[in-house]
Amino acid sequence: MSPDQAAPLLEVRGAAKAFPGVKALDGVDLTLFGGEVLALIGENGAGKSTLMKLLSGVYTPDEGEFFVDGEPVEITSPARAEELGIAIIHQEFNLVPDLTVAQNIYLGREPRIGPFINEAALNRQARELLDELGLQLDPTSRVGSLTVASQQMVEIAKALNINARVLIMDEPTAALNDAEVATLHELIRRFVNPATGVIYISHRMPELKAISQRITVLRDGQYVGTVNTAETHMDQVVGMMVGREIDTTRRQAPYAGDGSVVLAVEGLSTRSKLKNVSLTLRKGEILGVAGLMGAGRTELARAIVGADPMSSGTVSIHGTPRTIHSPAAAAAAGVGYLSEDRKALGVITSQSVRDNIVLSSLPRFFRRGLGDERGIDDVAREYTDRLRIKTPSIRQLVKNLSGGNQQKVVIAKWLVRDCDILIFDEPTRGIDVGAKAEIYDLLNSLAAEGKSLIVISSELPEVLAVSHRVAVMCEGRLVGELDQHEASQESIMDLATRTESAVAGPHSASQAAVTERPVSS
Ligand SMILES: Nc1ncnc2c1ncn2[C@@H]1O[C@H](COP(=O)(O)OP(=O)(O)OP(=O)(O)O)[C@@H](O)[C@H]1O
Ligand SMILES: [Mg+2]
Repeated sequence: MSPDQAAPLLEVRGAAKAFPGVKALDGVDLTLFGGEVLALIGENGAGKSTLMKLLSGVYTPDEGEFFVDGEPVEITSPARAEELGIAIIHQEFNLVPDLTVAQNIYLGREPRIGPFINEAALNRQARELLDELGLQLDPTSRVGSLTVASQQMVEIAKALNINARVLIMDEPTAALNDAEVATLHELIRRFVNPATGVIYISHRMPELKAISQRITVLRDGQYVGTVNTAETHMDQVVGMMVGREIDTTRRQAPYAGDGSVVLAVEGLSTRSKLKNVSLTLRKGEILGVAGLMGAGRTELARAIVGADPMSSGTVSIHGTPRTIHSPAAAAAAGVGYLSEDRKALGVITSQSVRDNIVLSSLPRFFRRGLGDERGIDDVAREYTDRLRIKTPSIRQLVKNLSGGNQQKVVIAKWLVRDCDILIFDEPTRGIDVGAKAEIYDLLNSLAAEGKSLIVISSELPEVLAVSHRVAVMCEGRLVGELDQHEASQESIMDLATRTESAVAGPHSASQAAVTERPVSS
């Protein structure tokens, strides 16, 4: 560094951190300059979150030196990190579900009148902050009632409300759609000035290209290198990250099953969202469900598996109309549901990898009241290997795994469960590019075995990579279906953004998408 150059805003030299059985970080360097967005990438379990937890005072390092504005610092606690101007948006939310949006944002710093919290002022301040950030959220809503995307927005508002100089965002966009990502990037650009900087973690390559100036790559707890974003092709970065080439532009092959219908949904409506949705799923088919946030995709999945009540309509499984009142009943009827919210419904993080993978399939392993412990271990090991779940042992508690590896445990659980119909809601959320490709292969092999899948995803490249057919939803309706050869990012977006008045009905809309070209103005 030349003497006329300012010291980096933040610098890490030789950081190391070990957990029992795992060397999470080993000799990692990182430099953040004022005015920049530095992307940090690496496979699931590479050590990204651990490094960020050292910077935000959540963990203490085994080794390493830390500097803020060139001055050595010790970041001994989250409070100390905040004093140093370091704010973090954690990968796993730190919100209190029973409090409101405003109460969460100002937790511990509420405006008061004497000893009492001034609720009116609290809500007003929150309203102002949310307006300023351009976030459409009601400050008085209970956080637990919000979608995952909205909860993410609350986290972001909370972090931006602290006067931070260094803002760390650990996978802030994992649950956001493209429009919301654009809003977030706008917020980031407004936040960054010569005295501030952002460390941005994401598994979505196009985002890194759009938002970062430099990219630092970690692999297996080690520092691999740092590149300038503008001068580097993303394939190169993926190569640094996983050490092999990954095809990120792949497309599903045409459907090759026998066409028999395994799941038929007729005229399904719910009080809250869905309006007269009808669709079918064929044996061996992967049906992608696309749509903007709030289009009703998760509501559709939840209504099918009985997590939410239907107000009208029928769901038939293998030709028989069924009344299903809970996801457990759905699973018993052969319909598995992997929820978008893995913490609430997916895994029990205080239990082991093994128990999470096999628990819901336990009856299979019991004969005459005796559990086949060896059999259970073998299955848990098989799926840990197949999905490359990074863990020192199948007995490790899930809460000690990295975010992406926790998600793999949820997937493994449903693969073991042996349902013929699987509904996966954002299955690869937080999963790295290499592992995504492996999961797509796995979904394909399930379909080839004759299982049928509905895959809900906000990432259009993912929808195109896995779907034989794409159903597009908008405002609680199914507005069109596209065959594998008709589906493209453009045709899907075209349907997903149609307003109610433009939609005549599911079938005509599907036709329209193929035959009509939008009139350009
Ligand atoms: N509290 C803990 N106890 C034991 N092991 C841990 C703990 N926290 C992290 N690890 C391990 O440290 C390694 C690095 O995890 P980390 O969460 O930093 O990965 P990551 O790069 O953020 O991955 P992801 O992309 O999946 O979020 C992993 O092998 C993880 O299992
Ligand atoms: Mg992480």
